[in-house]
Amino acid sequence: MRKTFLPYFRPDIDEHTIELVGESLRNGWLTTGPKVRAFEERMAAMCGVRNAVGVNSATAGLHLALVAYGVGPGDEVILPALSFVSAAHCVRHCGATPVFCDVEPDTLCSSVATIEPLITKRTKAIVTMPYAGRPLDNQTVYAYAHARGIVVIEDAALGVGTIDAGHWPGSAGSDAAVFSFYATKNVTSAEGGMLLTNDDRIAESVRLLALHGMDRDAWKRYTAGGTWRYDVSALGFKYNMPDLSAALALGQLDRFYEMQQRREEIAATYLAAIDGIAGVEAAAMGRIGPADRHSWCFFPVSIQPNAFITRDTVAIAMREANIGTSVHYIPSTQFSIYSEYARPLPVTDRVWTTLLSLPLFPGMSDTDVHDVVDALSVAVAGRRYAFA
Ligand SMILES: Cc1ncc(COP(=O)(O)O)c(C=O)c1O
Repeated sequence: MRKTFLPYFRPDIDEHTIELVGESLRNGWLTTGPKVRAFEERMAAMCGVRNAVGVNSATAGLHLALVAYGVGPGDEVILPALSFVSAAHCVRHCGATPVFCDVEPDTLCSSVATIEPLITKRTKAIVTMPYAGRPLDNQTVYAYAHARGIVVIEDAALGVGTIDAGHWPGSAGSDAAVFSFYATKNVTSAEGGMLLTNDDRIAESVRLLALHGMDRDAWKRYTAGGTWRYDVSALGFKYNMPDLSAALALGQLDRFYEMQQRREEIAATYLAAIDGIAGVEAAAMGRIGPADRHSWCFFPVSIQPNAFITRDTVAIAMREANIGTSVHYIPSTQFSIYSEYARPLPVTDRVWTTLLSLPLFPGMSDTDVHDVVDALSVAVAGRRYAFA
């Protein structure tokens, strides 16, 4: 058994990135400024999207997208229950109703089949989510929604690097996509998010709403030639991304392909090993084609329960073996605040109790990966190291 604890996730920040953050600290430009602009331009170019707007979390980006598309009281928004709760909260903050849909068993993503039965005259938007960063296979959802005048927003919190039939999030036909750069994501800015859209009008509106509805941000007011005067033309929020965060993210982006490659190597090792462990399956691996890429933001497995073993016993045994794990996700419908929105969701209700996410971060050594596989195979066999 390993002697030290392997956390579920450890950020990988190199000296170059620390230097970039130091630059922002030294130049005095802490809040939204040149580094945010540079980060936005790089992300827009990388994703092949016309507009990228930096915000201070994916939650902020999702909220702004819903507001910018006019989601409000009386509207319904369909979204998967098997996701992080923030998109549902945003729907409710808009005064609209979240309508939770099920997911496909092989992708753990929503589809036309899981969305269609929930469509009503009030459906204003659909929020999709590429589970674990896998491609969504969502062209059919976009076509279906757009034929009915329904907006599609990708909650691509896990989707930096996800490629769906050759397209990055936000470039494949949805109306907007939102990335998260939270500390455990594959590209981090500590806290941060970015909205990507080909719709110039929405980008402009999101930019305005992200900073109180002011028509001049600090960059336009405090740089040489700037003016103190500004108008406030919308009921905005305080959701802007600071330069300190963008500096961190730019450093991460410089190493994105190197980090992605290491994620892919670790995922490939896990996939091969799990093939040989009875009672464990890699989750959400269906329908990934040659023009797709998985971001491997996390690595989910499904533990088939039996009389002795459940996901929860395996998680405890892994912890005893000094390996951290996580669960993605507790469905939103399980939370007390969403009890009145709950409905039977056969796949979600069954599968979430089997899901366990294994450690996956670029700084893991081959020995770490081996230790995880070893601990998993011991745990699902119902053994403990002490008795092994
Ligand atoms: C699917 C999903 N959506 C949204 C979020 C929220 O991201 P943020 O913390 O940047 O608001 C998360 C964060 O874990 C997530 O996993």
